[in-house]
Amino acid sequence: MFYRKKKLIIEKVPVHKIARQFGTPIYCYSFNQLKRNILNFKRNFTKIRPLICFAVKANNNYRILSEIGRLGLGADVVSRGELIVALKSKIHPKKIVFSGVGKTYDEIEFAARKKIFLINAESQSEIETISKVAKKIKRSIDIGIRLNPNVDAKTIKEITTGKYSNKFGLIEKDVFKLIKQFKNSKYLNIKCLSVHIGSQITSHIPYIKMLRSLQKIISKSKYRFEYVDLGGGMGINYGKNTKLLDYKKYSKEIEKFVKKNNVKIIFEPGRSLIGNAGYLLSKIIYIKKTNKINFIILDTGMNDLMRPALYKAYHNIIPVKKNSSKISKRHEFVGPICESTDKFLSLKSYQKLSEGDNIVICDVGAYGKVLSSNYNLRKNANEILIKSSKVFKIGRKDHLQNIF
Ligand code: LLP
Repeated sequence: MFYRKKKLIIEKVPVHKIARQFGTPIYCYSFNQLKRNILNFKRNFTKIRPLICFAVKANNNYRILSEIGRLGLGADVVSRGELIVALKSKIHPKKIVFSGVGKTYDEIEFAARKKIFLINAESQSEIETISKVAKKIKRSIDIGIRLNPNVDAKTIKEITTGKYSNKFGLIEKDVFKLIKQFKNSKYLNIKCLSVHIGSQITSHIPYIKMLRSLQKIISKSKYRFEYVDLGGGMGINYGKNTKLLDYKKYSKEIEKFVKKNNVKIIFEPGRSLIGNAGYLLSKIIYIKKTNKINFIILDTGMNDLMRPALYKAYHNIIPVKKNSSKISKRHEFVGPICESTDKFLSLKSYQKLSEGDNIVICDVGAYGKVLSSNYNLRKNANEILIKSSKVFKIGRKDHLQNIF
């Protein structure tokens, strides 16, 4: 994304033309950006040669998943719905891992019958349920055991998952117990040790601590895991000059870990692959000027993009047509929803804006559209995929039919 003659361009497409042709609000994805992110991710871990399973919860658009599958990735799913979309997108079942604390018997049976790669179990009861399913279908099931390493990921409180106060994973002592109990099971094959400590992580230190916890489990249990699933969580730069994760340091530590334990690595990244490849294009409906604030009222709201309301998450907002003016007054970009949290960004100054102008909310490719709702009975935002100078409508109606 860049400006040419003050007009915003995504790949080769001027954004104001998208607004004119397709209307707003609309999610726009850049294929090239997605591809670059995937290649970068792979490059960061070349020596490890991991199985990369895209976290479908970050973006479950069928067309996006198909592109991701074509680029060689697998999928990390957390529900029957996500599993169906991943399979429909032609992601190979042997590259699909199933995570989540609350998989039902039916979901487990469905996944097992599809012969997916791995089910990551998170509790004693779940493991027993998987075992029952295996008995029923008369086939052993490959599982991972998810460890809760009690590591603070130093990220937004709401998206940390690896502390004992979080519902995720099993505490050390229970992991040992379950390995002992099930290592010779006829129905379960403990193939993997898994972990995921949180999202939007920007330091390698929590990851190093996490590796230490995994090491302890492997060394003490003396169990031979074939895979270690390190989850996802790699943070991105939302435009606040965030210090980013040091991939080199993380990758070096993993290399040592792999050598020592002779295991294969799985990753489950979501945000780091698709986050900065998505833009939410919107139009200014009204500008309401009060003494202190210019309220910029957009045609998109928290129903389309929940992150600012839910986590006070920062998303930059940029104009589709730049000008060189600067209005030194607080600008608050808000949506039309009847909630005071329906607010995207507040800035001390902005260029001169007019009603009818288009703006773009940045970095919404991950946890954007997937968290949207019809609150206030608002229509769903459309979606398009931009590939060079081509634009494809990639709405969901068709592929989501008959999923449930
Ligand atoms: N694996 C597991 C087991 C997960 O729970 C998650 C994310 C991921 C992988 C992918 O994490 P990522 O690489 O995308 O950070 N809605 C929040 C984020 C919730 C993340 C939930 N789990 C947000 O908008 O920031």
